[in-house]
Amino acid sequence: MIQDAPDPAAAARLAGPFPVDPAVLAAIRPMEARDAPQVARLHHASMGRSLWARLGLPFLETLYEVLLDSPRFLAFVYEEGARVRGFIAGSTDTPAMYREVGRAHTPRLAMQAARRVWRDPGALVLLHQTSRYFEASGSDIPAESLFCSFEPDLRGTRVSGHINKVLFDDLRSRGHRYVKVTTEVDNPGSNRQLAHWGFVVDRRFTFYGKTMVRYVLDLEASPRVEPVGRHPAV
Ligand SMILES: CC(C)(COP(=O)(O)OP(=O)(O)OC[C@H]1O[C@@H](n2cnc3c(N)ncnc32)[C@H](O)[C@@H]1OP(=O)(O)O)[C@@H](O)C(=O)NCCC(=O)NCCS
Repeated sequence: MIQDAPDPAAAARLAGPFPVDPAVLAAIRPMEARDAPQVARLHHASMGRSLWARLGLPFLETLYEVLLDSPRFLAFVYEEGARVRGFIAGSTDTPAMYREVGRAHTPRLAMQAARRVWRDPGALVLLHQTSRYFEASGSDIPAESLFCSFEPDLRGTRVSGHINKVLFDDLRSRGHRYVKVTTEVDNPGSNRQLAHWGFVVDRRFTFYGKTMVRYVLDLEASPRVEPVGRHPAV
């Protein structure tokens, strides 16, 4: 069950400033095309029921490759040695980013998706409902944290907190006042992290039989966020 952050003031009290470990911060860098296989693996392993994951690993890999072409895509990886062990993927404007990527890369994405859909027709239904998802999750706040995943033994160690900070600082440095995140009600790790960050529950909606919750963080008011850009996308 989610623990609702009851109001912005209470959420802000819960979220004090974020103590940064410089060594962890140094291991975080912008995502690059060469990371797509490892990022797809992490995405698939922990978000296997999501639409994009149901379309299979090759689809996910292609998706990340083409998203990296968009200047609206802001993504970072956490790397130890040559191994990517966690990532965050966000956008300065998700619907515009997907429209742009769709215009440029539909044949490539459709080819990968088609390979999967004949074995998992349910994914096709989900695909059709994607536009409804954007409607329900709202277009009033363009900046979004879309996906975040860490290897299981890194969860709860605050490494993920650092990568959130890097994304949110970057969005703030670009002038965004708010960031939104949508997650499933029954994802305790995600709900706990968002509550600790001071996100407030903004709305709930049902998507493909699952109850989703949309969280919003006021980047300007958050004691954890500073306007620091660390991503080259312009
Ligand atoms: C969602 C996910 C990224 C959250 O990451 P995480 O590793 O738990 O995050 P953190 O370690 O930064 O912890 C978040 C907060 O919870 C606290 N916390 C972590 N484990 C805790 C525990 N067992 N008990 C109490 N508090 C705990 C941390 O101290 C931190 O609080 P703080 O920011 O005030 O210090 C991670 O669980 C994950 O990879 N899940 C699989 C993928 C997924 O579900 N992604 C979300 C959908 S997009």
